[in-house]
Order: sequence, then C-alpha cells, then structure tokens
Amino acid sequence: MMWIRRRGLGVQVWTPAKVNLFLEVMGRRPDGYHDLATLMLGVGWYDTLELLERSDGEVILHCDTAELSTGPENLIVRAAQLLRSRYGILQGVEIRLFKRIPMQAGLAGGSSDAAATLAGLNQLWRLGHDAPTLAALGAELGSDVSFFFHGPAAWCTGRGEIVQPFPLNQALELVLVCPQVGLSTASVFRALQRSRSLVSGQPLLEALQRGDLAAVGRSLFNRLEEPAERLCPPVRWWREQLAATASLGIGCLGARMSGSGSAVFALAQDAAEALQITRAVAKVPAGPSTARVLVVRSCD
Ligand code: C5P
Repeated sequence: MMWIRRRGLGVQVWTPAKVNLFLEVMGRRPDGYHDLATLMLGVGWYDTLELLERSDGEVILHCDTAELSTGPENLIVRAAQLLRSRYGILQGVEIRLFKRIPMQAGLAGGSSDAAATLAGLNQLWRLGHDAPTLAALGAELGSDVSFFFHGPAAWCTGRGEIVQPFPLNQALELVLVCPQVGLSTASVFRALQRSRSLVSGQPLLEALQRGDLAAVGRSLFNRLEEPAERLCPPVRWWREQLAATASLGIGCLGARMSGSGSAVFALAQDAAEALQITRAVAKVPAGPSTARVLVVRSCD
C-alpha cells in the first residue's frame, strides 16, 4: 500500500489516504478513547515524504503546506523521535513532506505520514524491523497509524489500532469530496450521543466477500456521521449531493462520511460511473462550502 524506494542518498515514501466503509462506536473507554469496529480501506491519493540522513542527530521537517506545524508536536517528528529514543539511535534525519491529503478530513493523512516516517526511517537507518513491530510503535502515536502497515483493507478494533487484514476480491472505485472546512476528531467524538443499538459490520464484510457491490453500497455505515453533520452542515450537504446522483440514473451505490469527517465519499459501480458522479457533482450550483472532488481507487 505504501511505496518505499531509495532515491539518491535518501528514501522516498508514497503513503495513501484511507476511508472507512464502516465505522461503529462500540463504547467509551476509561482512558477517554472509544472502542471502534471499523473497516478501513487505503485509497490511491498519496502524500510523499523524502528522507535524508543527518549525522548531527537533528530531526528537521519541511512541508509545502503553510498550515501544518513542523515543530516537535508534528506526528512525523514524533515518529522519528520515538524510533530514536526507543532504539538509542544517534543519527538524525531531514524530511520533506509533500502534502496532498487534506487535514481534518477523516482520511488519516497525519497518521499515514507518521506510518510512512516509521517505514522510511526503518530503511534509511537500516533498522530491520518487521511490519508488526512498526505497527505497534505506530499505535503509540495515533489510533489509525497501525492500519497503514496492513492495508489495503482491514477490520480494525480497539481504538482502531487492532488491525486484522481483510482480503479484497476486487478494486473499489470511489468519488471523494473534501469540503474546504475541516473537523477535529476529538470534537466529533465529544458530540456523539449514546446510541441504543449497535450496527453490525457483518453484512458489509459478507458483501465484500461475495463481491456484491450493490450490497456493499447498502451496508456502508458511519456512526460519527450524525454528530459531524450536526457540527458541520456542509458535510451533510455534500453527502446528499453524492447520494442524489443515484436518482439521475448514475451508478452511485452509496454515500457516506469517512472517519470523523469532513470528507465524504461515494461508492461507484465502476470507474466510468465514478467519473459520471464527479461530473454530476461538479454541475451542482455552489452550496454552503466549496469542495475538492476526485476519483480514487482502492490501493493494491
Ligand atoms: O488517536 P488519535 O490521536 O487519532 O485520536 C484523536 C482524538 O480522537 C482522541 O484524542 C480522542 O478524543 C478521539 N478518539 C476517540 N476514540 C478513538 C480514536 C480517537 O475518542 N478510538
């Protein structure tokens, strides 16, 4: 799912976004987090990291996006420092991040970058750790980081860090809509109201296994959609625009929010229908917030 290659004296990593085809919140935990049951899917939209060794032990991050802090609180810097302290590494690194995955979108861009840092440094510093070791380190950095060592699809529980790879029989074609306005994960969880009954992910898993795309579309679910849409009405507006393309005879099989938002996605019948959905959505008169619309395919 991640691509890692040597480039000159350094290492380059391409690391994808994810969407959640299913997300149920099982309950609140004593540590303040929530237990989840979620099907995560890597999709072909990538951030790129370039890593170059430094002999002075410094960890330095540059980023082409001004809104992103490059200080010690950045998950990339924290990932590098975690490896250095855990394994007594003296080398440093200079990292250039080319950011494409939007922030506060529920696409786990920050977690993906952290996973890419662990994987890239594992090569650059010749540490020789296996994927489960890196995934366990990733779990210390954030709930979604471990997934990126196990994609393209996985059933994730616990905070999201208990990852069980799920075999995909076919590529999935999606349309992603990323509203300009973002959502903080913590505030969406805070706005969540306790639900009386839990939704099961089993129908989605069975539909994926059968390759029954229409049933996959019907089984898409996200418990965080309701609180996120209450906090941020453009999320609902864009999701409804996507869903409404089905009534135009376009092969939109379902539309849901990803993670804690604000991105929403549609599952398309195939790549041609995905293009039709983007065209239909592009024609919609301007709504409450502008958005980026793009076609993505599940990662290999
Ligand atoms: O783990 P991560 O840093 O991605 O989580 C961000 C915030 O989202 C947490 O501080 C917490 O408020 C909320 N969260 C949660 N339950 C989860 C994952 C995240 O409550 N399983």
